[in-house]
Amino acid sequence: MKIFLDTANIKEIKDAVDIGIIDGVTTNPSLIAKEQGCDFKEVIKEICGIVNGPVSAEVIALDWENMVKEGRELAKLNNHVVVKIPFTRDGVKATSILAADGINVNVTLVFSPNQALLAAKAGAAYISPFAGRLDDIGHDGLEVVQQCQDIVSAYDYDTEIIAASIRTTTHVLDCALMGIDIATIPYGVLMQMFKHPLTDIGIEKFLSDWKKTQQ
Ligand code: E4P
Repeated sequence: MKIFLDTANIKEIKDAVDIGIIDGVTTNPSLIAKEQGCDFKEVIKEICGIVNGPVSAEVIALDWENMVKEGRELAKLNNHVVVKIPFTRDGVKATSILAADGINVNVTLVFSPNQALLAAKAGAAYISPFAGRLDDIGHDGLEVVQQCQDIVSAYDYDTEIIAASIRTTTHVLDCALMGIDIATIPYGVLMQMFKHPLTDIGIEKFLSDWKKTQQ
C-alpha cells in the first residue's frame, strides 16, 4: 500500500520523507489554513520539491469553468501536482476536461461508491473516499472505501483509491489488509504506527545485556 502524508506542514513532510516511507502528499484548504501566513502556491511548490511523488492541491472554485481554470494553473506549478476537485456535478465535468488534457485529478469529498464510479468514469487519477467523516455520522467508513476499491478494480479503471480522513492506526491497518491502493495519513497517526512497547522493552534489554559483556 502506498502511504501519502495528509498535511501541508513542511516540517512534518520533511521529517516523514527523510525516513523514506512517503509516496505522496495530500493537502486541502483546511490543512493549508493551519499553516498560518503561508502562500498556497508557494507551499505547494515547496512540498513538490521535497516529495518525489504526487502532491494534491485543491481548487476553491465551485463552477466547472473556474475549476478547470484553477486546475490548469495549479498543474503548471510542478509536474508532481495533482489537482484536487470536490465531488459535485461541476467537479465531475471539470475532472473529465482536465483528464482529457492529461492533468491528474484527485476527486475528493467522496462518500459513496456511486460517486466513486462517476469519478472513475470521468477519468480521475485518484479518488478519495473519507473514512473518518463517515464514521463520525455513524456509517462504516471503511466499508465505503472497500466498495470504491472493488468498483475501480473490477472494471480496471486507471484510478487509484486513496483512503482519506484517516483517524487511527487501526484505520491504516484495515486499509492495508483490505488491499486499498493508498492511505493518506496525518503525521500524528503515522508516528503512532512506529510505536510498540515490546520494541522499547526489547531494545532496553538488548542494550543492558550488551553492556554486561563490556564490563
Ligand atoms: C483528504 O485528502 C483530506 O485532506 C483529508 O483526509 C480529510 O481528513 P479529515 O476528515 O480528518 O479532515
